[in-house]
Amino acid sequence: DRVSLWGGRFSGGPSEALALLSASVHFDWRLAPYDIAGSRAHARVLHAAGLLTDDELTRMLAGLDTLAEHVESGVLVATIADEDVHTALERGLLDILGPDLGGKLRAGRSRNDQIATLGRMYLRDHARILGRLLADLQEALIEQAAAHPDAVMPGRTHLQHAQPVLLAHHLLAHVQAFARDADRLRDWDRRADVSAYGSGALAGSSLGLDPESVARDLGFSASAANSIDGTASRDFAAEFAFVTAMLGVNLSRLAEEIIVWNTKEFSFVTLDDAFSTGSSIMPQKKNPDIAELARGKSGRLIGNLTGLMATLKALPLAYNRDLQEDKEPVFDSCDTLEVLLPAFTGMIATLTFHRERLAELAPAGFSLATDIAEWLVRRGTPFRVAHEVAGACVKYCEPRGIELWDLTDDQLAEISPELTPEVRSVLTVSGSVASRDGRGGTAPVRVAEQLGELRADLAGQ
Ligand code: ARG
Repeated sequence: DRVSLWGGRFSGGPSEALALLSASVHFDWRLAPYDIAGSRAHARVLHAAGLLTDDELTRMLAGLDTLAEHVESGVLVATIADEDVHTALERGLLDILGPDLGGKLRAGRSRNDQIATLGRMYLRDHARILGRLLADLQEALIEQAAAHPDAVMPGRTHLQHAQPVLLAHHLLAHVQAFARDADRLRDWDRRADVSAYGSGALAGSSLGLDPESVARDLGFSASAANSIDGTASRDFAAEFAFVTAMLGVNLSRLAEEIIVWNTKEFSFVTLDDAFSTGSSIMPQKKNPDIAELARGKSGRLIGNLTGLMATLKALPLAYNRDLQEDKEPVFDSCDTLEVLLPAFTGMIATLTFHRERLAELAPAGFSLATDIAEWLVRRGTPFRVAHEVAGACVKYCEPRGIELWDLTDDQLAEISPELTPEVRSVLTVSGSVASRDGRGGTAPVRVAEQLGELRADLAGQ
């Protein structure tokens, strides 16, 4: 019945309770294609080292092809008794090749260097998938920005009206954050680009196998420089969990804005029917569930990171079974984002912005007060005084229920003799926005420049 990898010094199989605790097949079976790729590469170095004849290598590779078909078609199914993906595949290979040849593949490798390598392979593939999904989201935001080149909105700090900004500028601020997430994924890949094959259980192999050749076969640029580190380190997983959690947090911040913008009180956006949900009881409802799920799932992504960090903390070198806990958090982070990102991108791409509403609120809350102060500064007034004069304008208007641009020439002069009627030239939203024309500012020319850079960046990936 059960094929154990360590029969020699044991008199019986594991208890059922241990088997249940020990099993990881229910989550590591997804590594089967990577495990088989590792086995192919391993067979080749065994052959190169003279440990498999030409004929044995041919039969071994054919057996591994059959094994891959059996996995694909479901002929081979892992069971709890297999414990993990490596053992299940060994059972499958032994069934295909028989014990004499099938039993040769394990020489010079350990599940410890296997799992450390396969984890990297899996995450590197998924980092690329996530990178593509993230590029779609950046693209959707860039398209929305491009579709609204001159729409203005209230820019906020402390969620209070601060200064008017271009809607495109605000949307591109989110793209900047996502572009850094994409960059982090690529940068992470550089460090994960190391195969642990050849590390064995922890000390390396005595069989003259070439770890560099396996590494190249599996798409890595290098093999581990230290077999202990190769098998014991999991910072590749923790860092992946961080990069994906950070992406989740960035999604959540945009999600929160969309939730608020979608309220009756804000009325900045309308969600497309296909990307919003209704209520089972309240017929009028149209809910921003995608944004809420993004906000909620960011908590889960953070949990995956903190859980993994807690597992790694205080683990002595080299391999410890605790390390089996490294997989579920990062697999879950991949699964979560691979479902979330397409929905989120669809929501963004189909969002309708209400330009009139945004424009109407852009100058509200005396958001042009800074423009008065800076107008005075340009005419030589010290900023401390200018700030006070602009503040006095607000103080004058607020109780009278009027806006800054309603002040008459006499009222302006009454507030300060420095406030000549020309100040009104800066008391428009478009004038305010256009005046912030330094690099990174919200002036249309700068936002267009930014949009071009982000587009080029995305195209160059
Ligand atoms: N299933 C194990 C893991 O995921 C593979 C390595 C097991 N090694 C061992 N010596 N028990 O970490």
